[in-house]
Amino acid sequence: MLKNKKTVYFCQECGYESSKWMGQCPGCKAWNTFVEETVSVKKSSSGSMKQQADRRAAEPMRLKDISLSRDERTLTKIAEFDRVLGGGIVPGSLVLVGGDPGIGKSTLLLQACRNLALEEKNVLYISGEESMRQIKLRADRIGEFNDKLQILCETNLETIREVIERKKPDIVVIDSIQTMFHEEINSAPGSVSQVRESTNVLMQIAKGQGISIFIVGHVTKEGNVAGPRVLEHMVDTVLYFEGDRHASYRILRAVKNRFGSTNEIGVFEMRNTGLEEVKNPSEFMLNGKPTGTSGSIVACSMEGTRPILVEIQALVCQSNFGIPRRTAVGTDFNRVNLLMAVLEKKVGIHLASCDAYVNIAGGMKMTEPAIDLGISLAVVSSCKDIVIPDSVMAFGEVGLSGEVRAVSMAAQRVAEAKKLGFDTVILPEVCRSSVKEISGVRLVYVSWIQDAIKFIRQI
Ligand code: TYD
Ligand code: MG
Repeated sequence: MLKNKKTVYFCQECGYESSKWMGQCPGCKAWNTFVEETVSVKKSSSGSMKQQADRRAAEPMRLKDISLSRDERTLTKIAEFDRVLGGGIVPGSLVLVGGDPGIGKSTLLLQACRNLALEEKNVLYISGEESMRQIKLRADRIGEFNDKLQILCETNLETIREVIERKKPDIVVIDSIQTMFHEEINSAPGSVSQVRESTNVLMQIAKGQGISIFIVGHVTKEGNVAGPRVLEHMVDTVLYFEGDRHASYRILRAVKNRFGSTNEIGVFEMRNTGLEEVKNPSEFMLNGKPTGTSGSIVACSMEGTRPILVEIQALVCQSNFGIPRRTAVGTDFNRVNLLMAVLEKKVGIHLASCDAYVNIAGGMKMTEPAIDLGISLAVVSSCKDIVIPDSVMAFGEVGLSGEVRAVSMAAQRVAEAKKLGFDTVILPEVCRSSVKEISGVRLVYVSWIQDAIKFIRQI
């Protein structure tokens, strides 16, 4: 028996495998993450016999003969969720939904299950974390359920496999992968080898029987699904559910998607009756924007195919210490420093002795360079105490020479501004050819950051 077992050390952060213990993981550079786990060298005989049978049955197919009719997608009827999935659920797909504990993964999936069941799909919700009673309590908050949705509280994967084979559901939810365990693996649930083996089993079920499986995965504080980044390679789609604990909205983001685009986001709001879709995120983000103060401007960032308007706030004040303090909330700190250096050197605004705090209001995280112009103007506005009117929106990338560079999808951004009632848009001169004049919106094209500053000074 012992011959078939060997122990290896796995990094619990990224799944790096090593034959000896190490203090620091060479893969992800995390400290103290190696844990000893037993792995069986020999595959179980049933597995290998099945594999042999599979091997004999393997037959290549002509690409043009492969029909796509089976790939009809099932809609969850939660439009934001469907969009992030790339237009609904693909049969036989394995989808990982990651996120911090308490962010609303179980709620989102239960709501999706409810809609799918109402569409006459057989849905099986398997929870390893909560009791039937707890699930029922949550379900009562969400709404009415029909009898197509079945609940199972189980953590043993072999039992789960057996139940799935017997019940033949169309869609399965596993909540969460960290609680599942496989009898053949000795290590504790949630460890790398357990999670990897469990996902493997689920993948075989999904691909073999054409069942779509959603896997819930918890995220460690570093922001990766606990233990296994290994998991990300195995599944078809990786979605992260994120949000500020203190804000009520949540963002569902696709990180990997074999069946669609990865930059789509879905915006939700947590209510006491579950998650509500936010159909117009810009309006939601701009809620509560102060009027008539300096240090604030609205910028636009594309999230997937959707433009989202956000308020960028800056506070610049004289520093009392030798080294000025700078912070950036919701955007890249280094980018803010870079833009301030450009303002210092190319525009001649003295910021070297100033503290600066930049904030994307609403708690959104935005890193698209198109918000550069917004950040720069907010900093200038605060530093020089210039009030930028509420009806002005700005977007454009700022280069190191102070030039305002082109950004993609300028026309959509202008259209979004118009929709929300903005009457002036500051945008890069290079985008002139791609943007059509729109009645009621004044388009101010700028080539240099200086031009934009001149404009806000005289407006
Ligand atoms: P949950 O889906 O259990 O999170 P996860 O599965 O990601 O750990 O969501 C839990 C949080 O959501 C909890 O703090 C309560 C809150 N919540 C609401 O505010 N309203 C609701 O209708 C529901 C069901 C949950
Ligand atoms: Mg949960």
